[in-house]
Amino acid sequence: MLERRAVALVSGRGSNLQAILDALSGGELRGFALVAVIADRPNIRALDVAAAAEIPVQVVDYRAFSDRAAFDHALHQAVQSFAPDFLLALGFMRLFSAPLVAEFRLRLINIHPSLLPAFPGIQAQRQALEYGAKIAGCTVHFVDEGVDSGPIIAQAAVAVQDGDTVESLSARILVEEHRILKEAISLFMDDRLQIEGRRVTKRL
Ligand code: GRF
Repeated sequence: MLERRAVALVSGRGSNLQAILDALSGGELRGFALVAVIADRPNIRALDVAAAAEIPVQVVDYRAFSDRAAFDHALHQAVQSFAPDFLLALGFMRLFSAPLVAEFRLRLINIHPSLLPAFPGIQAQRQALEYGAKIAGCTVHFVDEGVDSGPIIAQAAVAVQDGDTVESLSARILVEEHRILKEAISLFMDDRLQIEGRRVTKRL
């Protein structure tokens, strides 16, 4: 069977990227190849992770563009140049343009470190801690036109402990991120996601 082509979009450390690469090489995930990693900035660890796995990388540095439209256009072109079947946003810190979202509707998967719809946007773990939430967590979802608002594929809850800092809470959430991200990709690859409006359920 022909492997599907995935492109990952990254902005930082690349631990979710590493988790996927490990799962691919270990056979836990199969049926697709990561054909490229696109970053919105240079000099990030995620690019080293990609290089170590010999995955082609491309940087579309958001600071090099005079406005958002120009960046959006360049990012969309970079994505299309790799002819992906689906996209994985792994800690990607930019909003996606409407045309890109439309082209990859239900084929663009994002990982977010909160139990959505609580705490969308940046520093979600800090938001949860400062709000005083007792349960935090993470969400894997399809991207739509909103901010962290698309149909939810998988979630995991993480209890907030009294002594937690942003760092300690984030570390426990990250373990769950890696787990549910792989689970969601596996269901997606096996065509086991049934989608009705916002509701995503598992086909048997
Ligand atoms: C993760 O917490 C992800 O959920 C968030 O950014 C972080 C990226 O981590 N959106 P990494 O780059 O995968 O290590």
